[in-house]
Amino acid sequence: MDWTRLLLFALLSAGNAELMVVLVNRLHALPIPCRTLRHVRHLHDLLIPGFPLLLVWCLGFRGPQLLVGGNWSDVPLGWTVYLALCALGVLSLLSSVIRHLFRRAPATLLSNHTRLVDVADELGTPPIGDGPFRWLIRVPGNQVFEISVATKHLTLPRLPREWNGLSILHLSDWHFIGTIDKPFFERASELASEQNVDLIVFTGDLLDEQDLAAWIPGTLGSLSAPLGCCFILGNHDWYLDHRAISAALQQQGWVDVMGRVASINHRGRRLLVGGTAAPWIGDHPDFSAAARDAHSNPALRDFRLLLSHTPDHLRWAQSEDVDLMLAGHNHGGQVVLPLIGPVYSPSLTGCRFAGGLFEDSPTVLHVSRGLSGRHPLRINCRPEITKIVLHSPEPGSNSAG
Ligand SMILES: [Fe+2]
Repeated sequence: MDWTRLLLFALLSAGNAELMVVLVNRLHALPIPCRTLRHVRHLHDLLIPGFPLLLVWCLGFRGPQLLVGGNWSDVPLGWTVYLALCALGVLSLLSSVIRHLFRRAPATLLSNHTRLVDVADELGTPPIGDGPFRWLIRVPGNQVFEISVATKHLTLPRLPREWNGLSILHLSDWHFIGTIDKPFFERASELASEQNVDLIVFTGDLLDEQDLAAWIPGTLGSLSAPLGCCFILGNHDWYLDHRAISAALQQQGWVDVMGRVASINHRGRRLLVGGTAAPWIGDHPDFSAAARDAHSNPALRDFRLLLSHTPDHLRWAQSEDVDLMLAGHNHGGQVVLPLIGPVYSPSLTGCRFAGGLFEDSPTVLHVSRGLSGRHPLRINCRPEITKIVLHSPEPGSNSAG
């Protein structure tokens, strides 16, 4: 047995797994029907454990017999091409690990305070309903009921001086499916309400089960803020009757900003809140038209806030001169492995924007880990609700606590 070659087979198998993950992540960033995506996931489930067995059998002991003294020159062309791709997969995996290990908080972040609330502990029993994938909740280390209530103070270069201390509550990805039961979301809503913010936003994926729109009045519907509550929907809402979901939220006083811009006057300045659930629902909002309308003051620049379900629209946001972009969709990866970091993130950029804060001038991007998910599994990746407090960079105006 050639142990060096067996080790190489193991590396190439890791590269194959990376290719499968890259494929699954990218396809989940596109408007592909749920059923097709399920088939892709099944293929991924089959090929990750199946490939090493195939490699050892087809190339190791049969064919060129690489594990017992055979020659690489006898490897068929098809296998050679795929093994070269696997080698690229290994490089991709390495670059992800390096990016994860060396990631630093951007300079815009002044402070980040987190309070943990274990809802299962508070209730005395885990709030488990009769939805699918219940068995996942019992996985050791699962943090699905441990809400991270974060307060992040950011300094934004173009924040109007008059708005110093403006606060926004960023909620995302609540995924009502019935497995995590309603009391969990009621408690999350209480925590949200206690934050006393100026504006509340929700960045998509509210439902995985249409009937659970009935939970809206007792959860998101119970929230209010002086500058209002704005929302967009996400790809999981798109799989259902998203118009009915939007109507149910609007009945509770929430403002739908999908494909449009809402204008909010605050202390003599205008906040433009645009929303996009593209590529699943509608199109991008037109900030330029909103900035030109009759109520705008050409002497004063309007502050631009974008709600985008996926962070994949960061480049577009930059081109639209957006100041702050709030996104969800990627759930922080849900499972964050030691050293490697998150693995699954349904984005065109993979795990790069799985969760957290990013700065790419002129736009600051916050990606929420969300509160829940279709699959009730979170390891090293707690559900979150986030209060974002904005500060003007002018001297003496920063007052982060
Ligand atoms: Fe989601």
